[in-house]
Amino acid sequence: MKTGKLLSTLAYTALLMSCNTQKDPMDAYIDELMSKMTIQEKIGQLNQQVAGDIMTGSEQDTEITELLRNGEIGSVLNVKGVDRVKAIQKIAVEESRLGIPLIVGMDVIHGYETVFPIPLGLAATWDIEGIEESAHIAAKEASANGVAWTFSPMGDICVDPRWGRQAEGAGEDPFLGSRVAEAMVRGYQGNNYENEDNIMACIKHFALYGAAEAGRDYNTVDMSHLRMYNEYFDPYKAAVEAGAGSVMTSFNIVDGLPATSNKWLVTDVLRNQWGFDGFVVTDYASIDEMEKHGISDKQHNAALALKAGTDMDMVARAFVETLEKSLNEGLVSQSDIDTACRRVLEAKYKLGLFDNPYKYCDEAKAQNSTYLPEYREVARRLTQESFVLLKNEGNILPLKKQGTVALIGPMSESNGDIVGTWCVASDPTKYNNVREGLEKALEGKAKVLCTQGCNFVDDPYVQTATRTLVPFIDKEQGKREAMDIARKADVIICAMGEDAWMSGEGSSRSDIEMPAPQRELLAALKTLGKPIVLLNFAGRATAIKWESENIPAIMQVWYGSECADALADVLFGDAVPQGKLTVSMPQSVGQLPLYYNYLNTGRPVGEGADRYLNFTSNYIDVRNDALYPFGYGLSYTTFEYSDITLSANEMTANGSLTAKVTITNTGEYDGVEIAQLYIHDLQASICRPVKELKGFKRVALKKGESKDVEFEITPDLLKFYNSDLQYVLEPGMFDLMIGTNSSNKALKKASFEVK
Ligand code: NOJ
Repeated sequence: MKTGKLLSTLAYTALLMSCNTQKDPMDAYIDELMSKMTIQEKIGQLNQQVAGDIMTGSEQDTEITELLRNGEIGSVLNVKGVDRVKAIQKIAVEESRLGIPLIVGMDVIHGYETVFPIPLGLAATWDIEGIEESAHIAAKEASANGVAWTFSPMGDICVDPRWGRQAEGAGEDPFLGSRVAEAMVRGYQGNNYENEDNIMACIKHFALYGAAEAGRDYNTVDMSHLRMYNEYFDPYKAAVEAGAGSVMTSFNIVDGLPATSNKWLVTDVLRNQWGFDGFVVTDYASIDEMEKHGISDKQHNAALALKAGTDMDMVARAFVETLEKSLNEGLVSQSDIDTACRRVLEAKYKLGLFDNPYKYCDEAKAQNSTYLPEYREVARRLTQESFVLLKNEGNILPLKKQGTVALIGPMSESNGDIVGTWCVASDPTKYNNVREGLEKALEGKAKVLCTQGCNFVDDPYVQTATRTLVPFIDKEQGKREAMDIARKADVIICAMGEDAWMSGEGSSRSDIEMPAPQRELLAALKTLGKPIVLLNFAGRATAIKWESENIPAIMQVWYGSECADALADVLFGDAVPQGKLTVSMPQSVGQLPLYYNYLNTGRPVGEGADRYLNFTSNYIDVRNDALYPFGYGLSYTTFEYSDITLSANEMTANGSLTAKVTITNTGEYDGVEIAQLYIHDLQASICRPVKELKGFKRVALKKGESKDVEFEITPDLLKFYNSDLQYVLEPGMFDLMIGTNSSNKALKKASFEVK
């Protein structure tokens, strides 16, 4: 039974109509509904507003009750709590003329209350099934708490980690980014929305938001179409092909036009080329921001956005305030408004909200479905999998559960920062901080001494501006306390790096090295000559050359509600690290942008060149290589790769071939290796990257065990967009590389020809 005042009869009429005219029941239902809607009600469906909780831009919450009653709101975002969602929904359904339900959205980007590592960390697991599972758990918790729609995944490729939102995506690679994006869509949406655990995904930020110049958030993007198609579009497209129900436009400009009003992007590429049939929402107030981009005034900007194919206006109130006037003045047509309205109503229909607007508002379910032990178990496992061991000199790790451990650094006792950036629904009162995690694991076996030791950054204003609750302490006193406990300890663990808000939206950094106060303390601790393990908490690739030269063990940590327990598991050997970087970690910020899948210049210096070479493409003061390359990560054990065996040295344009290696666990622990396949097209009509990831496999190997690992090379893996933007496979020679990370020295190589 459909709901709402007039809607109870609608279902029946629609059913009759669909029987009489063979119409699709959804079309019939929406036709009937729209025939009853006033122009104001139609425009109301295109309006999304905050409902008082979270605001990230300049827009303020308004008294929404009246607007809901008037049918002026089609969606609200970021309201936490099933009771609050239900109250808002009730007004829309029971007090507005047509009783059209709201679609309630939220940024559930790496979990609801059970918080997984930040998306960049989830990607570092390369565990596609695990990532899908994490998204499904997020959907279960969010849906039980009133949320029908998540603004995730983020498909933005980012090769410049100065951009703080590198944290929210899968990193620098389009192939891996695509696998992650589609897995998240599957996890959120399932096969259909009949299951009330499933919610609608929203692939964002369309498009190219991660290519902001100089990594400064919201900055200009300017890029060739060739590069868009070959390097940046894939994750969005993969999410669309996986069935993502919605797309969010980005804040940046593309080809000189704000993405929100870029018809080529939103209609030609997204809908016409990729076949997207869901609805498009703007990013936060981005129609208003068009004025600052220098396009036009609110009314004209709103008309441009609608005509470009954007359907819903996130919080700018530009549609609701101007579209009727624009209709009267001929700036937009009735059919522009109807099309957008229909798309929004279709989403609501598909989600089953007309059948039951309270589908996601069951208070009892909310209580029994949030932060459950079984969800936390999955989060703990994925968090263990996400850590990337960068260095382990002298096999300091794993540590023994004995003696005295000194835990030092501003991340040591911060329950607020442990989840990382942008978890709207997280509840820090429920999570352990690092000290609590270590104490629990070491209880009765070893002693933990702990102190903050230093500030995140030297400037108290900046430390507060990032919203961390870690106090700003006196530098000298902090250092004294740190040195004092370090002297009493057998091993020093430093929990340092970025607080939760030093990455994420609006958190660009021009210097991505370890901030000065933390590095100074590390240097002081080093003088004690004791084993030091650095836990580098980061929401991006950071530049830790000094640390890699001076600290014997370093592990990259990507936050999460279960991070403290997962850290204890890995530090003390109950779990073995297996994560691999999905971003290149630079030696210095001056190398940026830095990515493994670059195009050769005509004067390449060659990977691994160990000194400056005049008149070749390199720097005087730093080598071209990453400090830690894409795909890199150590284990407590070691793996050896055999040479590659190819099933054939040639393949046809319709054929395929198989590449096989044998991987052996040659170390002392059971472990998991992430084997990576790269391809280099040696002869093509346009310049092609020196290597591109085209496959990967997670391989569990017991100590001493060997396994054969096979990759099938299909034409699809070899295709690219040529200068006419046609997707082609060109004949010629290809190099194929398989190994443990993207650097040449870590890869076995073979060649084949496409005839
Ligand atoms: C702005 C962000 O860019 C976007 O990712 C997010 O979904 C919206 N705000 C809503 O919070």
